[in-house]
Amino acid sequence: MAFFDNIFSAQNPAMRLGFKMHDGVSDFVARYLKQLKFGLLVLAHASLLGLFFPQFARDFGEVGRNLLLVIMLVSPLSKIFRMRILYQMMSLRRELGIWFAYLAIVHGVGYILDPEWFSVFIAPFVSDPLSIMPRYIFGIIALILTLPLLITSNNLSLRLLKGNWKRVHWLTYPMFAFVLAHSFLPDSSKGMGVLFAWIQFGIVFGGYVFLKMLAKNNFLTPLREVNEYVGQQYREYQSKKQIS
Ligand code: HEM
Repeated sequence: MAFFDNIFSAQNPAMRLGFKMHDGVSDFVARYLKQLKFGLLVLAHASLLGLFFPQFARDFGEVGRNLLLVIMLVSPLSKIFRMRILYQMMSLRRELGIWFAYLAIVHGVGYILDPEWFSVFIAPFVSDPLSIMPRYIFGIIALILTLPLLITSNNLSLRLLKGNWKRVHWLTYPMFAFVLAHSFLPDSSKGMGVLFAWIQFGIVFGGYVFLKMLAKNNFLTPLREVNEYVGQQYREYQSKKQIS
């Protein structure tokens, strides 16, 4: 406990600053949640303009992949750390998901419509489907899986599909795996590069599965203890703040 006291105590200025920053951001999100959701949707739709700038197709893919990582991590992290800001981010997942889908469309369609890329990768594939590099097959599958998720990311679909909505959205997991495989694999399908890429894939996807397991049942006792201690310190900080 002395160790926890030194580092995680609310008396520690760094911890107090952390609590203060958390509360500042969280209060801002709570206050402007509606506007934030609206802003994210505007940004998401504006991203479609990227279709007119195929030279940035790769950047759209990278931003999309990073956004997807954030979306996927928020749920297990919110269950493990139980922080208000993470719960608030959960409520932005629909808008972030729509944004991700549009970025993926701009990226994928940008490449498919690019005449140079089409003649190198797509045209030979039409006559010999097995010739396409696994990396691009994974990208195409990821994009196809993204579409039903995008189309059903609204209240009407939620009402119409009822229990099946969750089944449709379970597609997020294979889609995530395909996005990672697509973005980590190199162009060549042989050699050390491929082995290294699969190791990278294993670390990131395995790390995600590990976090999901932790979120279901936090079996790491030291982490559970730190969480409980920090939670208690945060509550103390809050009550002192209200008194002063
Ligand atoms: C959910 C859908 C997709 C996502 C999130 C995504 C994401 C990415 C990312 C992050 C990269 C950069 C990888 C690196 O750092 O080397 C990349 C590269 C690439 N992607 Fe995708 N991708 C998707 C679908 C597609 C589709 C459908 C195609 C086309 C058929 C495609 C074609 C490419 C190409 C050609 C590159 C290589 C660019 C280069 O090396 O300059 N992607 N993608």
